[in-house]
Amino acid sequence: MTTAAPAAEPPGDIPAADFAAAGHELIDWIATYLDDVERYPVLSPLAPGDVSRRIGRAPPLQGNGQMRAILADFERDLLPGITHWNHPAFFAYFAISGSAPGILAELLTAALNVNAMLWRTSPAATELEEVTLDWLRAMLGLQPGWFGIITDTASISSLLALAAAREAVPSLAIRARGMAGRADLPVLRVYASAHAHSSIDKAAITLGIGHDNVVHVPVDEEWRMRPDALADAIESDRARGCMPMAVVATVGTTSTTSIDPVPEIADVCARQRVWLHVDGAYGGIAAIDPEHREVLSGVDRADSLVVNPHKWLFTPVDCSALYTRRPDVLRRAFSLVPEYLATTAPDDVTNYMDYGVQLGHRFRALKLWAVIRAFGADGLAERIRYHCALAQEFASWVRGAPDWELSAPVPFSLVCFRYVPAELDAAEVDTLNARVLETVNATGRVYLSHTRLADRYVLRLAIGNIRTGLEHVRLAWELLQQAAQDVTIETGG
Ligand SMILES: Cc1ncc(COP(=O)(O)O)c(C=O)c1O
Repeated sequence: MTTAAPAAEPPGDIPAADFAAAGHELIDWIATYLDDVERYPVLSPLAPGDVSRRIGRAPPLQGNGQMRAILADFERDLLPGITHWNHPAFFAYFAISGSAPGILAELLTAALNVNAMLWRTSPAATELEEVTLDWLRAMLGLQPGWFGIITDTASISSLLALAAAREAVPSLAIRARGMAGRADLPVLRVYASAHAHSSIDKAAITLGIGHDNVVHVPVDEEWRMRPDALADAIESDRARGCMPMAVVATVGTTSTTSIDPVPEIADVCARQRVWLHVDGAYGGIAAIDPEHREVLSGVDRADSLVVNPHKWLFTPVDCSALYTRRPDVLRRAFSLVPEYLATTAPDDVTNYMDYGVQLGHRFRALKLWAVIRAFGADGLAERIRYHCALAQEFASWVRGAPDWELSAPVPFSLVCFRYVPAELDAAEVDTLNARVLETVNATGRVYLSHTRLADRYVLRLAIGNIRTGLEHVRLAWELLQQAAQDVTIETGG
């Protein structure tokens, strides 16, 4: 028998000296970018397909280990196709920040490349996540006793919370027996306001609850869930044999940042013995500021809560914090330990793989920890307060301008507003506002988005980037006023 000669050793990774040189260059590039991001258009002007054409369809057969060449390709082919979420005049959706400490910590996370699926596979990652989430819990003014886990997005956090809510009803035995073909299962119902985020609907779809079984509870004149309507909906569902499974209250809805009345909703949930999940993905973070602490009042009575540090806590995407006061139920929903994952670690350690769908668990706690350490609870609160003050300032300009109106209260740092010249009908006003938005965004100097309220087209200005100042908000207002004038003339209004 002949033995094959060992294959020649491939070259391996990029040599350390080259890595260091490229790394220094890249950090310099990033520092300049962050300092100078305003020279780019906020919204990428490229058309669909432009980026793919630049990249080329076939993978390179021969690598090019020259990081400088890769960075040059990035600047030439990709950068024009970037919409700059880190631009201080990004006001669309919910504005976010990749802050410097978060960016550096993300680099370190990539270097360590830890998979924190088990405590054993990186004790520091697991314990840092536990401690940092407990810091955040305390900063939010919540009582001790919450268990936390970091996921990628609020959508996944809410999915896990609703899976736990389903598991919390042991008689359903869905984990073991599934839902298909079971005549013994009642129709399960989930309640959320008509303004809840679509991720709640998607979670219900994913969990087999069915989209039709998400009850969109009516809201009051300030877009907040009506607890009386919630109680009625639950009671009438029970009367016809359905099983209310969970209620989702939102602190900071996506369209207007309205705040559902959590204490009253918690009363309904306690009376009805239904799981209460609070979606505070954006607005919940404001509770870090003592002046906004009350936005989470009543949340200590909830079963689960999501807040997103990657929305308004200056932490790079992705980082969502899911909390539950019933980790045993979340664990019961998801824990499954094949032999190849069994460890001899003590029973009381946290193995994050037990609390969700994914086995792998990214070391996201490092960037959250770095952000909290760099800015401190007071520094974070100050920045959040400043964003709210900027929003109030913008709202006062809208209020004071003829032909403009505020479309919703401004509890946080989002302003909903419209241009409403008197002589136009409702449909014409909608078209005009859509044109104003398009015109302003086409300047490349700011980027705003829109929503619909009571079926009317409404503009949204969301403040949340760590580098946004009064001058950026003022620029947005000037461009909006100019666009309103131009569009009115152009359409002959
Ligand atoms: C209230 C609310 N919940 C959930 C989400 C979904 O967030 P993610 O992108 O982290 O899934 C959003 C997104 O804007 C939101 O506004």
